[in-house]
Amino acid sequence: MDPQSDYEIDELISAKSIAARVESLAKDIGTYFENTEKLIVIGLLRGSFVFIADLVRELEMPVEVDFMEVSSYGDTMESSREVRILKDLRGEIEGRDVLLVEDIIDTGHTMHHVLSLLQSRGPKKMEVCALLDKPSRREVKVDVRWIGFEIPDEFVVGYGIDYAQLNRNLAYIGKVRPPN
Ligand code: IMP
Ligand code: MG
Repeated sequence: MDPQSDYEIDELISAKSIAARVESLAKDIGTYFENTEKLIVIGLLRGSFVFIADLVRELEMPVEVDFMEVSSYGDTMESSREVRILKDLRGEIEGRDVLLVEDIIDTGHTMHHVLSLLQSRGPKKMEVCALLDKPSRREVKVDVRWIGFEIPDEFVVGYGIDYAQLNRNLAYIGKVRPPN
């Protein structure tokens, strides 16, 4: 039994596999943005905070870090499809190269909404890196240039990702076993 809750969590992706994947993502991102003077890396709070912390430390180029928080879920496993801005960026992105970092692309509604909002601010180039992708759940198409891992339709926690705000501090990614 997971010590933080009354449900079970089975490991899906180990801390070691995550670290290796983050390193290789950072290499690809660095190559893609090699002509960028200063990249703005935007993390979508709160789920991406661990991922972005590891990712930027593997990037060997000047980066600024900013955050945005949108809400699309309550403390349930259901997607509401409604996206509200809870915290906006501190900086301007007009004319800048931007990397948007997300924890999971599920139905795609959150990223679709955030991308169209940020596009309207006129970045020079904007690309998305998501740690996890659940392609079988997609309802709207979103262009995600880098994906850490494709996962099946399971509810996952850990490495920044929560269930009812808990388990963000797990070093690995695990799936929540539904109660029998
Ligand atoms: P989408 O709008 O359906 O693509 O939802 C994306 C957001 O839903 C992600 O940023 C996560 O915060 C949340 N989400 C989707 N799947 C999971 C999951 O398995 N565990 C925790 N949060 C999830
Ligand atoms: Mg999220």
